[in-house]
Amino acid sequence: MDKIKEIISQMTLEEKIGQLWQVPFSSAKIEDIKKLAREGKIGSCILACTPLAGNTDNQELPFADMLNILQKEAAEHSRTKIPLIFGRDVIHGQRTIFPIPLAQGASFCPDLVEDAARRMTDEAAQDSVHWTFAPMLDVARDQRWGRVIEGYGEDACLTSQMGAAAVRGIQHKKKDGHIAAAACGKHYVGYGAVEGGREYEKGEITDYTLRNVYLRPFEAAVKENIMTVMSTFSAIGGEAVIASERLLKNLLKKELGFKGFVISDYDSVEQLITRRIAENKKDCARTAFLSGVDMEMVTDCFSQTLGELVKSGEVEETAVDEAVERILRVKEKVGLFENPYTTPDPKKQYRTEDLKSSLNLAEKSLVLLKNNGILPLKKDEKIAICGPFVNEKRALHGSWAGYGDIGSTPTFKEEMEKTFTNVLYCSEDFNIRMRDPAIVRGCDTVVLALGESNVYSGERACVSDVMLDKTQVELAHNARAFGKKVVAVIFCGRVRSLFELEPYVDAVLWAWQPGSTGAAAAVRALSGAVNPGGKLPATMVKSSGQIPLYYCPDNNPCCISDAYYEEPEFAPYLDFSTMPMYPFGYGLSYTSFKISNAVPRQKSITAKELEEGKTLSVTADIENTGEYDGDEVLQLYVKDMVSSMCRPVRELKAFLRVGLKKGEKKTVELKLDKSSFSYFIPGKGETLEKGKFELMLGNSCMGGLKMNIEIK
Ligand code: BGC
Repeated sequence: MDKIKEIISQMTLEEKIGQLWQVPFSSAKIEDIKKLAREGKIGSCILACTPLAGNTDNQELPFADMLNILQKEAAEHSRTKIPLIFGRDVIHGQRTIFPIPLAQGASFCPDLVEDAARRMTDEAAQDSVHWTFAPMLDVARDQRWGRVIEGYGEDACLTSQMGAAAVRGIQHKKKDGHIAAAACGKHYVGYGAVEGGREYEKGEITDYTLRNVYLRPFEAAVKENIMTVMSTFSAIGGEAVIASERLLKNLLKKELGFKGFVISDYDSVEQLITRRIAENKKDCARTAFLSGVDMEMVTDCFSQTLGELVKSGEVEETAVDEAVERILRVKEKVGLFENPYTTPDPKKQYRTEDLKSSLNLAEKSLVLLKNNGILPLKKDEKIAICGPFVNEKRALHGSWAGYGDIGSTPTFKEEMEKTFTNVLYCSEDFNIRMRDPAIVRGCDTVVLALGESNVYSGERACVSDVMLDKTQVELAHNARAFGKKVVAVIFCGRVRSLFELEPYVDAVLWAWQPGSTGAAAAVRALSGAVNPGGKLPATMVKSSGQIPLYYCPDNNPCCISDAYYEEPEFAPYLDFSTMPMYPFGYGLSYTSFKISNAVPRQKSITAKELEEGKTLSVTADIENTGEYDGDEVLQLYVKDMVSSMCRPVRELKAFLRVGLKKGEKKTVELKLDKSSFSYFIPGKGETLEKGKFELMLGNSCMGGLKMNIEIK
């Protein structure tokens, strides 16, 4: 018998049920939690005491010493000696804050995402974090939803690749062979489709869309052996996911082969009562547990009633054993049985190399959306700086960055003054016409630091309108009225619309909420020390009324042209366009690139070859034809020419970010495999249909070099 099975064979039913409960940590309640741990009544602690840990800054940071004392109760003083696993939302940093995940998506650099995840995990380990509630794998096509900040954008392929990279980074192997921490893919599944972008709402997702879009990143994470998955608060077409045996037990565990354990979201087991799916705690426990939830976060339905349910025969004890086994195997992989304690080493926090890595990722995530030739700015240009984010520190961190050191975060103003010799500070005021006319009159260029505050995105931070707020548009308008060149640097937790602002500015640099060193990243781009090369991971709409607007809807019968958003023959809106402000995958550079000679290595491939794991690759030349070194993101889109079901106009299936020195030329290769062509057909399953496909290689979803191939 292996070690875990042996431990389980010696546990009482109460001890087994104890492993299935995660309680919130609070030092005020430490004695109660210690008692629960000693009595074997809990298996885990979440290092947060409200579900809004991400958007409130007054979260307690429990120190490793305190957690070691608590751990001792479980690991040494309890009868089973099973250690606790401490979990926390390390979404984009523990102390060193990295750019928000949406910005990471814009980098199109899975390697950097993996590296960042590895670094945050190592840093969080110093605070006893064994398990991080990341990555968020929700594809999201509605920027009103506040949680778009936590994901990688609107596309399933991008989200899958970035999510898989994050899993690799979090679950990297330590020298002792154990993994650094367990990752948690969330929110399984379909949370990104909440109606109206409203938190905790339901989504109407057909099986076709669920499988072909929302499930894809979870499939990718399971392939990376993700150790835990969090069920979503939301419901799909009347089916609360936490109460869905179909989605949790059958699809996730059986069909996808997920071997780890499922944790419910905060309070969500007991919320089955407010959902009116359950009458009481016992009902909640029965429903969630039998559907496939292994551990309950915060509420105590399992702990209070699973014992009775086993005794009455409604739940089999072997099912409890299975859940315990799933949990203990994760504890084993994290190395908790060998060493349950943390020896904190302050030198491992805020390490120079972590700050550098955060800066590098922030630089790679910058998206240049407009440039009338005025960027980069000259070192000695007279620059007036203005706007609500000029002196901001906290907003640069974004939500879910509770332990980041705000004090030591340089502001945009500080970085501007370090870099340029002639910076004139206006104020944060909107009415520069009244406040600072002399300064603006005397400058060459006005640089505006605009965006949204950190409390405007994240959990329970949805908005009904994604336009950049009117006062900021007014500021740009006022700056423009002086006849000066105007640059907007946008610090934002979502893709807000610049439709109203854009006419008043000559250049736009989208800097996201870039983390601890993010202001420097933006300023380095303004000065030309960095050439922006990121691309939009989600469509920027012109108006909130266009939502949802994404680059890959299914082909529309009137859509005769090739561009995704382009108005078909019969324009869907009589009063507005369906074109985006900026499309998915879009971003400019200070240099120019020429993509040429795009050819598939073979004109056809057989379905059998693809089934056997063979790939079809496309090669192309890319040349930097401009005046600066820079990066381009090559994007390979696939269009199924004739299929049994309506398929997307075109879908991203592979991408590659390439760095090229001025004048340099490279030949690159992008590979497509079976999953690039197959899709899920309800009633039939994953299907590879033979026939013609059009490939397009470009630098956004809007156009590129086309190739025809056939699957025979
Ligand atoms: C969020 C999760 C988070 C959990 C724990 C919930 O409210 O939906 O994403 O991991 O709280 O903080």
